[in-house]
Amino acid sequence: MTYAASLGYPVPRIYRADGPDLVMERLVGQTMAAAYLDGKLAPDEAASIMADLLRRLHALPGRGGTGSIVHLDLHPDNILLTDRGPMVIDWRNAGDGDPDFDTALTALILAQVAIGSIAHEVGADAGILLDRLLELMPGDPIARLDEVVAFRAGQWTMSPEELADLPAAAARVRGLPPP
Ligand SMILES: Nc1ncnc2c1ncn2[C@@H]1O[C@H](COP(=O)(O)OP(=O)(O)OP(=O)(O)O)[C@@H](O)[C@H]1O
Ligand SMILES: [Mg+2]
Repeated sequence: MTYAASLGYPVPRIYRADGPDLVMERLVGQTMAAAYLDGKLAPDEAASIMADLLRRLHALPGRGGTGSIVHLDLHPDNILLTDRGPMVIDWRNAGDGDPDFDTALTALILAQVAIGSIAHEVGADAGILLDRLLELMPGDPIARLDEVVAFRAGQWTMSPEELADLPAAAARVRGLPPP
């Protein structure tokens, strides 16, 4: 987060990172998901904010000299809308990587919500966001989708039901009918 901030990326300020403890700036604002549910944000607007955040992130070189910074969990619950603009939180999975991989993971998470596999109040509207985001994003978010599905399947938060639905979510990203 400190590295991303040093390159001008919108993240909360880090005051102390010490072993398991992380003390950061408390931001004031709603998550993008909450703002959307409150009717304060149209789907097009939300997609364009997400595309902009992904594009700006992927323009930043990775710390190890390869690829770009990747967040690997960039979705509407991890974006806070503040008076300093949209800010990205929850950097637990972040590192260096392939921009297309990161975009595909965002798309897959939105698809999981869109098809009803992950229960979220945004529900099927996540599909509108997904389709618009895929139009806006440069690169090829489908190229590494199979690897992204394997990565997602390995995350401890996935329930057995969510695992079983991953092929259908991937098909939704590809714009295909469920397998
Ligand atoms: N710097 C911050 N300033 C203000 N609120 C924050 C900040 N960081 C996190 N939050 C709030 O805490 C929530 C959860 O934070 P975060 O996304 O980092 O953790 P998480 O592991 O996804 O937790 P959960 O699974 O409970 O959503 C955010 O949606 C936001 O409302
Ligand atoms: Mg989070």
